Amino acid sequence: MIQKPRGTRDFLPDEMEARRSTEAKMREAVRRWGYREVCTPEFEDLELFTLRSGEGIMQEMYVFEDKGGRNLALRPEITASVIRMYINEAKVAPKPLRWCYFADCFRYERPQKGRYRQFWQFGAELIGADTAIADAEVIMLAADTLNATGVTWDLKVGHLAFMKNLLKDLDMVTQRHVMAHLDKKDFEGLKATLADRGKVDLGESLTALVECRTLPEAFEISGTIPEKERVEQMTGILDTAGVTYSLNFGIARGLDYYTGMVFEGFAHNLGAENQIVGGGTYRLAHLFGGDDVASSGFAIGFDRVMVSLGDVQPKKDTIVGIVCTNEGRSFALSVAREFRADGIRAEMELMDRGLGAQMAHASKSADFAVVIGKREADAGEVTLKNLHSGEQKTLAPAAAIAEVKAHGAR
Ligand code: HAM
Repeated sequence: MIQKPRGTRDFLPDEMEARRSTEAKMREAVRRWGYREVCTPEFEDLELFTLRSGEGIMQEMYVFEDKGGRNLALRPEITASVIRMYINEAKVAPKPLRWCYFADCFRYERPQKGRYRQFWQFGAELIGADTAIADAEVIMLAADTLNATGVTWDLKVGHLAFMKNLLKDLDMVTQRHVMAHLDKKDFEGLKATLADRGKVDLGESLTALVECRTLPEAFEISGTIPEKERVEQMTGILDTAGVTYSLNFGIARGLDYYTGMVFEGFAHNLGAENQIVGGGTYRLAHLFGGDDVASSGFAIGFDRVMVSLGDVQPKKDTIVGIVCTNEGRSFALSVAREFRADGIRAEMELMDRGLGAQMAHASKSADFAVVIGKREADAGEVTLKNLHSGEQKTLAPAAAIAEVKAHGAR
């Protein structure tokens, strides 16, 4: 028996309905902020991701050569693609651009609960706004979108300027190593890397920075940073808006393109893979041949949202099973059409079963049976049976439709 590839999942109809219902809530949240959906290819030139996505992602990428000898990659994330698309298609559009996406990504990671090789991100990118209020909007949008799903989670907001100011005397390679240690919360590795370079004090300052939770303390540890006013304005906006968050200056993010504000969210009831959203401000456009443009955004791990929510019960459709004899079949087909035209889910018998077997099937799978034998077909009527109450009546098709609709509205 052929199995699905490791790290991928199949979704049965109940699960798809639950996923779609959560997705709809997220779509509605971003719509209210003016974000409009975009779509980019599932695979891109490998170079798009090698330019700036960071070592971690590079090692996890699905890379292949196509028949024309091109090096391609399945997208490990959507931000780089969105910025490529912006340069290709929308450079001259009035700024800011507010875009969102719901798309699958591929990373060759070790699969476990909440970590898959194919997973879905619900994300947004705000392109062309470089202000404190833009930084705050992206955080507030992420919070609204996640809150709309019903998950409970904690929001942590930081800014890379503090860390970068402490690291500014190190070469770029060491800076990246330090950031990678911080992203993985590997403090032992961090200390070892810095000790190797004779920077034990720096290790202590970084640890203090990671642990501090207020702006004045962070300024004291890192020294004055040029972004001071912007960070204060942004946190001021979040406070005024009543956003619940904590400051965390140890957020390093695993992708290399972030430049300033960064944030992450953690679901309360997930285990090791509890990071449910990540984002921040970044610059990518200039790397892809466009003018430099400031952007910010986030991506929510949709599958983690679903794991965190547990069993979501989607709103159930009212189902009508059409039960008919051979003589009733052509009238039954037209009655089924009428039900569907009125928006009701109607399922015809397809298995050539007798009336008894059809009724037994309907009672397992439907809310109503619409029974059509020769008598009903001759009279242009149907026998409508409520399969929950057992109540049964003979009616004109239009009256049966009205009755089923009234049940669905309840
Ligand atoms: P990221 O933190 O790499 O950021 O991914 C965003 C979210 O995707 C994570 O917080 C996590 O919930 C989910 N995720 C990541 N890997 C997996 C996996 N293997 N299985 C299930 N869920 C996963 C980005 O991708 C950036 N592009 C976010 C961004 C947008 N920054 C600016 N704009």
